[in-house]
Amino acid sequence: MTATKRIFSGVQPTGNLHLGNYLGAIRNWAHLQDDYECIYCVVDLHAITQPQDPATLRASTREVTASLIASGIDPQGSIIFNQSQVTAHAELAWIFNCVAKIGWLNRMTQFKDKAGKNRENASAGLYIYPVLMAADILAYKATHVPVGEDQKQHLELTRDIAGSFNDAYGVEFFPLTEPLIFGEATRVMNLRDGTKKMSKSDESDYTRINLTDDADLIAQKIRKARTDPLPLPGSARELVERPEANNLVGIYAALADISRDAVCAEYDGAQFSGFKNALADLAIAKLSPITGEMRRLLDDPAHIDGILRDGAGRARAMAAPILREVQDIVGFLNP
Ligand code: TRP
Repeated sequence: MTATKRIFSGVQPTGNLHLGNYLGAIRNWAHLQDDYECIYCVVDLHAITQPQDPATLRASTREVTASLIASGIDPQGSIIFNQSQVTAHAELAWIFNCVAKIGWLNRMTQFKDKAGKNRENASAGLYIYPVLMAADILAYKATHVPVGEDQKQHLELTRDIAGSFNDAYGVEFFPLTEPLIFGEATRVMNLRDGTKKMSKSDESDYTRINLTDDADLIAQKIRKARTDPLPLPGSARELVERPEANNLVGIYAALADISRDAVCAEYDGAQFSGFKNALADLAIAKLSPITGEMRRLLDDPAHIDGILRDGAGRARAMAAPILREVQDIVGFLNP
């Protein structure tokens, strides 16, 4: 096993990325490049576990790619590609489907949430979604995966699959991949309801800040964000029972790269109307270079496609020898 610290993570090309994706995930992905070899994947195979319009899927794949690059992921130093273009993912997923137990999959809470009441009508792909995720990670023997809380269970399954494969074939082939959880500090909540996560699927656009929003819209959304009538407290502890206030302070802290306590100390006793102006200015200052760069990139789709093509080529070259060994271990004749 190599001593390299290798990161793999994936993001679905379904709809716009928003501030929650940026502060909770992608910004961290960019930072990780300093210490790890990084592979970032736009997971289009995962996207079609639920119905997708083909033209929209294509456009979203380019858009998500552009936002990764605009957020500071270096497509040369790291690898950015879309999953469908490296067939090793689907091939390894099949082998893992024969390792994973139905009982394990039945425990996956995301499947239960996404399938809802109409389970019989969910696609088989949605059911084995976490197995494909294990294949994504292990096709590169990634040692670390940055994920949000909601993906922790899938990562545990990845470890179960790796361990079970190793045991079944008496090898120490796959690593037990470690999660890198970026916790509460960067959990961005819905601007209209501080108890819900900011989400691309919420029907009201005013609940989130998209990476495609311009300065005016960002300011408007922050000004209209829900708060309570109290002023800002002197310490973050006093925000526990004030989810909306806590969220805005949290967003400010994350964007300014300071603690919630430091924000409270600075704005102790201030009204939210004034604080929101400061937050809007800060958000615009931090986000406009990214949104500007995204727009510039999206004006040249051929350039984005070239980056994805190059990334897929490099990813393929990394996964190929690993898959070859897996085939040997399993007993597939490669004459
Ligand atoms: N399931 C992840 C999500 O929805 C995306 C994903 C797919 C992923 N494959 C992955 C994340 C591998 C980390 C590693 O957020």
